[in-house]
Amino acid sequence: MKAKMIVDKDFTIGEVDKRIYGSFIEHLGRAVYGGIYEPGHPSADGQGFRSDVLELVKGIDVPIVRYPGGNFVSGYNWEDGVGPVELRPKRLELAWRTVEPNLVGLNEFVDWCRKANSAPMMAVNLGTRGPEEARQLVEYSNHPSGSYWSDLRVQHGYRQPHGIKTWCLGNEMDGPWQIGAKTAVEYGRIASESAKVMRWVDPSIELVACGSSSLQMATFPEWERTVLDLCYDDVDYMSLHQYYGNRDNNTANFLAQSMGMDSFINTVIAACDYMQAKKRSKKKIHLSFDEWNVWYHSNDADSRIEPWSIAPPQLEDIYNHEDALLVGSMLISLLKRADRVRMACMAQLVNVIAPIMTANGGAAWKQTIYYPYMHASVFGRGTVLVPLVDSPKYDATDYTDVPYLDAVAVHNEAAGEATVFAVNRHLSEALPLEIDLRSFGAFRVLEHLVLESDDLKASNTQDAPNRVAPHSGGNAAADGSAIRAELAKASWNVIRVK
Ligand code: AHR
Repeated sequence: MKAKMIVDKDFTIGEVDKRIYGSFIEHLGRAVYGGIYEPGHPSADGQGFRSDVLELVKGIDVPIVRYPGGNFVSGYNWEDGVGPVELRPKRLELAWRTVEPNLVGLNEFVDWCRKANSAPMMAVNLGTRGPEEARQLVEYSNHPSGSYWSDLRVQHGYRQPHGIKTWCLGNEMDGPWQIGAKTAVEYGRIASESAKVMRWVDPSIELVACGSSSLQMATFPEWERTVLDLCYDDVDYMSLHQYYGNRDNNTANFLAQSMGMDSFINTVIAACDYMQAKKRSKKKIHLSFDEWNVWYHSNDADSRIEPWSIAPPQLEDIYNHEDALLVGSMLISLLKRADRVRMACMAQLVNVIAPIMTANGGAAWKQTIYYPYMHASVFGRGTVLVPLVDSPKYDATDYTDVPYLDAVAVHNEAAGEATVFAVNRHLSEALPLEIDLRSFGAFRVLEHLVLESDDLKASNTQDAPNRVAPHSGGNAAADGSAIRAELAKASWNVIRVK
């Protein structure tokens, strides 16, 4: 059993838009309160932001963070979160059945983004609200001054406009669980009208329309077709959301699920391009995969949480080694369509289905999924090369012809480096790999990082935060114009050459 890959710098897919390494902070569970913000914490800065968390976020290099939801946004009055904190209302939050204290809102989040070297991606509420409140929010955020809403921002201590460029037109509006869920026609119209007035306030913004909440939605992909028919000219991106789980403990099938993600992406691209043809338009719609991750470990615990508390531990998935492998494959899927996927958000960033965990008042640590996310973000900048992969395959319960090798290469011309990201999906055997680098001339292997574990279920915890961590002891070595390596069973690999 062996696999081969040809990496040629002349065969390109597209430039990586760094925003595919985005993430997501929702007012949900302990993402904000106890996550990014905890005024009493020993590491808290003057604004109450945890600097230990900020350091871990900066380690990933997250270019964009979606906010404030998620399901939360569909019942949210953004005005509740601005102005003097002591005057802000506590609200019953219906999406997650908690109490929202509104101690953090738009302005604090923008400040946090700056500290994290990131940029906000704001969502507007199209559940209980509509175009009017959306355009007021854009005016508050982005208009310099001299109007009611922009002057209110100045009065709140923010003289400079925030200049928020990217805006999501609602969240998962196809889902019956969404406050103010809509049919595709209802949503397409409100998205179009909201986009219109938001852009009249600030023509420089870019807008994301809600696509299907998952590949499994009964209305997919008819939803995309209908929505785009109604707002094609008004938007720039179509969103995708997808989560996976291993509820049946069928790891071979679990690891194959990124193939479903590939076909989801390809179908949404097809829907966008069908509509481009129908509209006789020159414009292409790009993709914003703005929620993706593994999510299932916490489902039972969440069903037992008492409603109406502030920041309970919701959606706190503890990730294991096999989760990190699927996350690696999901990143590979995003890279393989870098020509059309321009933004993506791992959902989420801290405590809530997150790569970073915290204890209230205590430590912050890296979950297993932190590592592939960090590697891809730090090393996966440049041009994605066509992955010509020849690999032995297996059949899983829901997928056939699953390649054991899942891989892609990114060429960073500026740094003179190339990086191969590779998952060996084989659960019991190492995979010998030859990477033909025929077009690269002389090169040397800089490092071969490996994330491996004998225990697929091993996870990192507060007491054992480094149980699953990468090492640089992979055996990739140059051999003429090729690299030879053995990929450990069930492993995530990063092979860097210069
Ligand atoms: O990320 C958690 C939730 O998943 C989001 O609030 C929602 O958009 C999705 O269903």
